[in-house]
Amino acid sequence: MKKSHAYLVVTLLLTMLLSQNAMAQYTIPAKMNWWYESRFGMFIHFGSYSYLAKGEWAMNNGYSKNDYQTQVSSKFNPVKFNGGTIARLAKNAGMRYLVITAKHHEGFCMWPTAVKSFKSIDTTKLYDLREYTAFDKKRDIIKELKDSCDAVGVKFCLYYSILDWNHPSQLRSPGNDKNGWYTYSTLTSASAKANYIADMKAQLKELIDNYHPALLWFDGDWTYQYGDYTYGVTSPDKWWTKADGVDLQNYLRGLDPNLLMNERVFRSAGLGDWDCSEGSTLGSPNSRPWETCQTMNESWGYNSTDNKYKTTKALILELVQNVSRDGNYLLNIGPKGDGTVPTQSITALNAVGDWMKTNSSSIYGATRSPFLSEPTWGLYTKKSGKLFAHVFTWPTNGLLKVPTLTSTNTIRKIYLLNDTTTLLNYKDSLGYIRISVPANVPNPTGSVVVIDVAGLPKASTQYSKITAISVTGQGGLTTITGVGGTLQMVRTLTPTNATNKTVTWTVSDTTVATISISGLVTAKKAGSVTVTATANDDSDIFGKMQIIVGTSATLNPQTSSLKVYPNPANNGTVHLQYDNSSDLISYSLADLMGREKLKGTFTNHTTLNLANCKQGIYMVKIENKGDREVRKLLVN
Ligand code: GLC
Repeated sequence: MKKSHAYLVVTLLLTMLLSQNAMAQYTIPAKMNWWYESRFGMFIHFGSYSYLAKGEWAMNNGYSKNDYQTQVSSKFNPVKFNGGTIARLAKNAGMRYLVITAKHHEGFCMWPTAVKSFKSIDTTKLYDLREYTAFDKKRDIIKELKDSCDAVGVKFCLYYSILDWNHPSQLRSPGNDKNGWYTYSTLTSASAKANYIADMKAQLKELIDNYHPALLWFDGDWTYQYGDYTYGVTSPDKWWTKADGVDLQNYLRGLDPNLLMNERVFRSAGLGDWDCSEGSTLGSPNSRPWETCQTMNESWGYNSTDNKYKTTKALILELVQNVSRDGNYLLNIGPKGDGTVPTQSITALNAVGDWMKTNSSSIYGATRSPFLSEPTWGLYTKKSGKLFAHVFTWPTNGLLKVPTLTSTNTIRKIYLLNDTTTLLNYKDSLGYIRISVPANVPNPTGSVVVIDVAGLPKASTQYSKITAISVTGQGGLTTITGVGGTLQMVRTLTPTNATNKTVTWTVSDTTVATISISGLVTAKKAGSVTVTATANDDSDIFGKMQIIVGTSATLNPQTSSLKVYPNPANNGTVHLQYDNSSDLISYSLADLMGREKLKGTFTNHTTLNLANCKQGIYMVKIENKGDREVRKLLVN
């Protein structure tokens, strides 16, 4: 791959396209109101694995049940655990609920259980914090935390893993005898499964009766198989069925009709009260309530070697991003084996708390952005009477443009949340509320401008602005061969019903090529130019593409470049073709937020399955010995 033309500047689409369908609102049942309005919670991964300081999956690293119990769990002694400290940390950070692991995949119970089958391998002790370790027999840290949460007004909730690597009913998955438990556990028999489920229900009843959690957060439900399933027919490690999930949900609702639970009683089947997105924010609003659980670094359970903590700004951006797409944000801490919270987590939570002290009214009770696209500078949230513009990139020209709202949303005043008495000047014209903002950024971590209006903010449909432009050369070409050669540029606009669909074409270097009003590029000399199409509707949206002008036929992209087809990809697959190398080339496909969806290697040609790629724009990148090419791909 030649470096000169390998690196293609592709259309810079800083806007996110949200599908019309997903904007349909859903009804929140009354019992869920507190959860929906909270928007921000604390996740706590704390278990006997915390002692080992290698994350919560440590048992998976080749431990037998016996070795793990005697070498790890028995040494766990969280003498410094302080429920009050943790509850106050959550409260101070602005978190309104807290979910702690009662039992993770390792099977170790953090509360004193009375259910006898959850026992040590030598069957002499219950496998829990009180009986199996040297920890103070008089203490119950789950109760301590529950009481502390009640005292500060943070809702107390519990995590429970359906899969249990320790329970006598469950063995290592076939084929994974040496290398750990690997994702699954295998049930020893159909009756073992029935007994385990009965005991699991007994434990859950115990947790509900003793600690009254506001919600149960399930996990480890993936030992499943979709559809009807009879024990052992296909694979004995696929033992948890949708029917089991439904049965568990009904059982729990029977115990406490107000108890909420996540979808992971059996995930991706519409069960529970909300969908879970693990580690990444959904790209757009969902058809039902949802929550992202997220780590502050790269680990859930305490990992002493993981220091990759996110910045305060990144955490706040994630929080706002969730709320602006109507999701909750559950941010994790992993206390150390002695029960103390890592300093980096405390620092991060305090910093988020500082931001929340000024800006939490734009989070609590706030819902999704009223607009179909997200601005280049930030995000929106809203509630009745207020539109919040969360500005993460402060305008350098003193002007913030917010799309016009519907005519019933009379603007009453506009101000910054960190200075509610200074009113900002604005002019609502030609589809935008043009707000004059101070030159200096009010808060580098994220500033919030409040547009105080009558009623619930709704986007005006009077002006349909361009939200994205993509630029390509006709026939997918990216080069022009020979001086005097031409290439017709093509622009694709979103939405297609934009009020003003015209664009202005420009090139970065008119000595290399010129461009006509209609987008015809004419080559003047060898080199490269960036072609830009800028929307004429004042939306600040543009699309870019780099064109190479070559003097020899070797630059013909038909033989020397990456081909990505069909584009738009509308049948669930896309082909990558790279003709002039027999090298093993690595590829990746990422969305506009940089989240990688697919990656791998190929030589000459490969077909990618786009089943997990929602409709939208993606970047396809190939790399070969340090050189790379990038293409934009529209998935329909
Ligand atoms: C994954 C991990 C688990 C963690 C969970 C949080 O399922 O297996 O360890 O608790 O993510 O959602």
